[in-house]
Amino acid sequence: MFMSRLMLAITFLFSSTWLLWTAQAQTAKTPPDQLVFKAKMGDVKYDHKGHVKHAKGDCKACHDKLFPQSATAPLNFKAAMHKTAEAAKSSCAACHVAGGAAFASKGNCTKCHVKKAG
Ligand code: HEC
Ligand code: HEC
Ligand code: HEC
Repeated sequence: MFMSRLMLAITFLFSSTWLLWTAQAQTAKTPPDQLVFKAKMGDVKYDHKGHVKHAKGDCKACHDKLFPQSATAPLNFKAAMHKTAEAAKSSCAACHVAGGAAFASKGNCTKCHVKKAG
């Protein structure tokens, strides 16, 4: 009788720590170093690590208000050659816009789109 109660207590302790741990893992995912966004114009190598530095380590500058923490979610940046996002100051154009924190699309296509050699 005592043994089974002890076992129950131990099981409870272990499962609650496990639940806490998984809940934590869900809110603090490991950030990627680099992501690649495919584009016919030339793929865009996105320096995620560099951008975390630009944002002084503040994940909330982008997550989740601009992007979900998922490399497969749509960026919603490409419409009308970035003019739609620039007008709304959304997606990458929250910063990459005239008068924003970083260079705008206009005249800077090749800063992001890199054609493969050959
Ligand atoms: C700040 C980085 C950045 C700049 C600057 C930029 N682009 Fe892009 N572009 C992207 C990204 C990222 C995507 C993929 C977006 C998406 O999936 O919503 C993309 C997608 C596109 C697409 C979608 C079609 C395709 O598959 O290639 C076109 C067209 C395009 N860009 C044209 C341009 C042109 C023209 C310029 C310069 C006037 C430009 N881009 C400047 C980052 C950029
Ligand atoms: C300047 C903007 C920016 C900042 C700041 C930023 N991220 Fe991201 N993050 C992105 C973008 C863009 C994506 C890709 C979103 C998409 O493809 O729709 C991404 C994707 C991710 C992913 C998904 C990776 C995968 O392989 O699916 C994780 C995890 C992530 N970020 C974690 C973080 C953490 C943790 C921080 C803070 C230390 C952070 N990010 C700061 C822009 C940012
Ligand atoms: C929270 C603001 C912010 C967002 C959102 C953001 N960037 Fe940037 N980005 C910057 C800053 C700041 C720089 C460095 C200053 C500059 O070069 O104008 C930069 C620089 C870059 C560079 C030049 C290389 C480098 O890392 O310094 C590329 C390429 C780039 N960004 C692509 C993107 C793409 C693609 C997206 C969307 C997926 C994006 N950025 C979203 C702030 C941002």
